[in-house]
Amino acid sequence: MSPHNKTLQQKLEELKRRDALAEAGGGAERRERQHKEGKMAARERIEFLLDEGTFEELDKMVTHGCQDFGMEKQKIFGDGFVTGYGRIEGRLVFVFAQDFTVFGGSLSEANAGKIVKIMDTAMRVGAPVIGLNDSGGARIQEGVMSLAGYADIFLRNTLASGVVPQISAIMGPCAGGAVYSPAITDFTLMVDKTSYMFVTGPDVIKTVTHEEVTKEQLGGATTHNETSGVAHFIAHDDAECLSMIRELLSFMPSNNIDDPPRKACTDPIDRADPELDSLIPAESNQPYDIKDAIQRVMDDGYFFEVHDHYAKNIVVGFARLNGRSVGVVANQPAFLAGVLDINASVKAARFVRFCDAFNIPLITFEDVPGFLPGTVQEFGGIIRHGAKLLYAFAEATVPKITVITRKAYGGAYCVMSSKHIRTDMNFAWPTAEIAVMGPEGAVNIVYKRELEKAKSAEEMAALRAEKIDEFRERFANPYVAAEKGYVDAVIQPRETRKKLIDALEMLQGKRDKNPPKKHGNIPL
Ligand code: HXC
Repeated sequence: MSPHNKTLQQKLEELKRRDALAEAGGGAERRERQHKEGKMAARERIEFLLDEGTFEELDKMVTHGCQDFGMEKQKIFGDGFVTGYGRIEGRLVFVFAQDFTVFGGSLSEANAGKIVKIMDTAMRVGAPVIGLNDSGGARIQEGVMSLAGYADIFLRNTLASGVVPQISAIMGPCAGGAVYSPAITDFTLMVDKTSYMFVTGPDVIKTVTHEEVTKEQLGGATTHNETSGVAHFIAHDDAECLSMIRELLSFMPSNNIDDPPRKACTDPIDRADPELDSLIPAESNQPYDIKDAIQRVMDDGYFFEVHDHYAKNIVVGFARLNGRSVGVVANQPAFLAGVLDINASVKAARFVRFCDAFNIPLITFEDVPGFLPGTVQEFGGIIRHGAKLLYAFAEATVPKITVITRKAYGGAYCVMSSKHIRTDMNFAWPTAEIAVMGPEGAVNIVYKRELEKAKSAEEMAALRAEKIDEFRERFANPYVAAEKGYVDAVIQPRETRKKLIDALEMLQGKRDKNPPKKHGNIPL
């Protein structure tokens, strides 16, 4: 029957029929397999992610245009990607979910166009983009057309970077192009045991390098959270992953012009915490957990850690002070003495740049013995990678506040948001030690000749001990820096919360900018 001869009722039914076909995706059997693996279906994920009833789907009737390999007979409405917009905590977001039941969630020219459309709209209206990835990568049957589709998306990812937040959840086996788009976005979450990320899978690796490796070892959630640092979060299942995305978004604005949403704060802003006074151990080389300090200072003791399984010698994450979002960067004396190495520098630099791009003030807790010495680090390029963190802090124009809790040694003193790189408020606890290096190292260098001249081992030990004491007396305190104005105030640890909130309020109207340029050249 031609469309002109259809009754009104038939026309309404036709839409229902097409909707049902689109929603059936790759069929009940494949969906069942997805459920058996503990994975939600694409539409279920979107329903779970968004505020109830807010999802508006776009391009539900799009089909692919491939005429090869019998593909012309296998067309499914939507072509395996569900795209559209909705709300999270009432705020507009754009979302896409790849449906693994349709050609393994692979990317075609047609469904790439769907992602491009929502990304372009998200950019025009200033709203975050969330990708729920579950895809075998470029659709093999389409050849270069699917590669072109990926490149179109990568361009959008890049142009949107720093304009609207982009979040990627990896919720299935993701290969090829399906991992490069997430890599350009701001945060990547992975679901444990059901998600994988690799450029090439175990079979290809076996052929090319003869290595035997499982999917899990190669690109599982643990690998990317602990070893490669490609992923920032690990979730136990789809539901937890989607809930984490909602929470992550609550700390950030919708775009680079807005401020982050402010929450009502019931935690007293002048709450003193006497426990902080005794947090630092008596011996300067003893560890303590910097997360104790962070939690005691922040609203309701809450800290949403980012990248917590990677480079544990530095801690980054979000929290709130008097209801305002802040990004926290903290050396962790409980892990490798809080030393700065390649991974820690890169981890923190990326986080600092995210916060700066999205108007989130930076709070730095500093207790750092310096950069990690050794050939592994030097050959690996610690100079270049450490410089990333220096560059990131120096170029950041958001309000910046630093608290030196204990060690601020050497280049790491400069790097960790020091006064000299435009940090607005630098506090120090009375336990702060600010020097070019620790007293032991300093004495070994400065008094090398005198120590060599000692007539006996005892004499050498006595001289060394005397000089170490002298150095400690002179530099193992915050007062030389305070006398120079490099530290704005030495504060009682218990008052840290109030001091930070007061400083943050004072800095609300901060306006700072970098010289006009096309873009800087961060040492990549
Ligand atoms: C078309 C695909 C596909 C793809 C999977 N399928 N990947 N169809 N193009 N890229 C289809 C399968 O034919 C199958 O269809 C269904 O999806 C499920 O796949 P299985 O292999 O049965 O699933 P599983 O065992 O879970 O393995 C998942 C997988 C594997 C690890 C993702 O399918 C795989 O290795 N796929 C290819 C990955 C890849 O090399 N992609 C191209 C990368 S190159 P039926 O009908 O049986 O259900 C690339 C270029 C971009 O992306 C470069 C950017 C820089």
